[in-house]
Amino acid sequence: MKIIDSIQRMAMLSKILKKESKTIGLVPTMGYLHDGHLSLIKTAKQHTDVAVVSIFVNPIQFSPKEDLDKYPRDLKRDEEMARLAGADVLFNPSAVDMYPEGYETYVDVERLSASLCGPHRPGHFRGVATVVVKLFGIVKPDIAYFGQKDAQQSVIIKKMVEDLNMDIDIKVLPTVREKDGLAMSSRNIYLSEKERKDALCLIEAISKAEAAVKSGERSASKIIKMMEGIIKEKPTAKIDYIDAVDTKSLRPVDTISKETLIALAVFVGKTRLVDNAILSP
Ligand code: PAF
Repeated sequence: MKIIDSIQRMAMLSKILKKESKTIGLVPTMGYLHDGHLSLIKTAKQHTDVAVVSIFVNPIQFSPKEDLDKYPRDLKRDEEMARLAGADVLFNPSAVDMYPEGYETYVDVERLSASLCGPHRPGHFRGVATVVVKLFGIVKPDIAYFGQKDAQQSVIIKKMVEDLNMDIDIKVLPTVREKDGLAMSSRNIYLSEKERKDALCLIEAISKAEAAVKSGERSASKIIKMMEGIIKEKPTAKIDYIDAVDTKSLRPVDTISKETLIALAVFVGKTRLVDNAILSP
C-alpha cells in the first residue's frame, strides 16, 4: 500500500492510473477506522482496480463547539487496518494543503442540508460537500463509497454529484454494527461503560419502530413518540432529533405509505450518536 500525503503526488498517480485505463475506488474517511470503513474498502477493492482510502479530519465540517481537537486519530493503526483490508493507496493530506491561506470556495447543497442534522450542526454539510468535491477532484474516482449510517450525507453527496454533472458512481453500503446492534462509529470510543450500555437505546428505538410498521402502524408521529419514550428511559441519553422523512427529498412525512427514512441523533453523555433505518410498509 502506497502512503501519499501530497495532493500533487496523489493527483499525478490518479492521472497515470487513468492513462492505464485503471478504475479507481475512493473511500473518504476521517480515520480512526472501524469495521464499517473496512467493509467500504473491501468492496472498493472488489469493484475497482485501485482502492484509495483518504484519511483527513476535515476542520471545516466541525463547528467551533464540536470535537475537532479531540477527534480520535491514530495513523499507524489506520495504516495497518487499511492495508489488511486491501487498500492500495492511503491518501492523507494536511489541512494547510487542503485549505491554504486565501482558500474561499465552498459547496452548499442547500435544501437537503437544511433538515435532519443540518439545523443542529450549522455549516457541517457545507464542509462535507466541499471536502468531498476536493477529494473527487484530486483522486478522480470512478466509484466512491459511503456508509448508510450517515444517511443524510449520502443523499447530499448523490445530489451534489448529479447537480455538478460529475461522472462518479456513489455507492452506499449498509451500516455495520457491533454484535449488540450499536452502529459502528469512530466516536463510540468516547463512551463510558455506562454510556455504552445506554447507547443501545438508539437501535432499540429503531427496532421497535420497524416492528410497529410491520404490525401496521403508519403514523410517523406515533412511531416517533414511541421512540422518544424508549430513549428518555436512559439517564445519560438526550434526544437531539428524531425525524421520519422521504428517502430522497428528506422532506418530513406524516404517513408511512412508502419507504421512509427514520433518522435520529442522540447525545449519550457528551457524545452525539446518529443512526437510521429505512422503514418499509
Ligand atoms: O463520513 C465522514 O467520515 C466524513 O464526513 C467524510 C465523508 C470523510 C468527509 O470528511
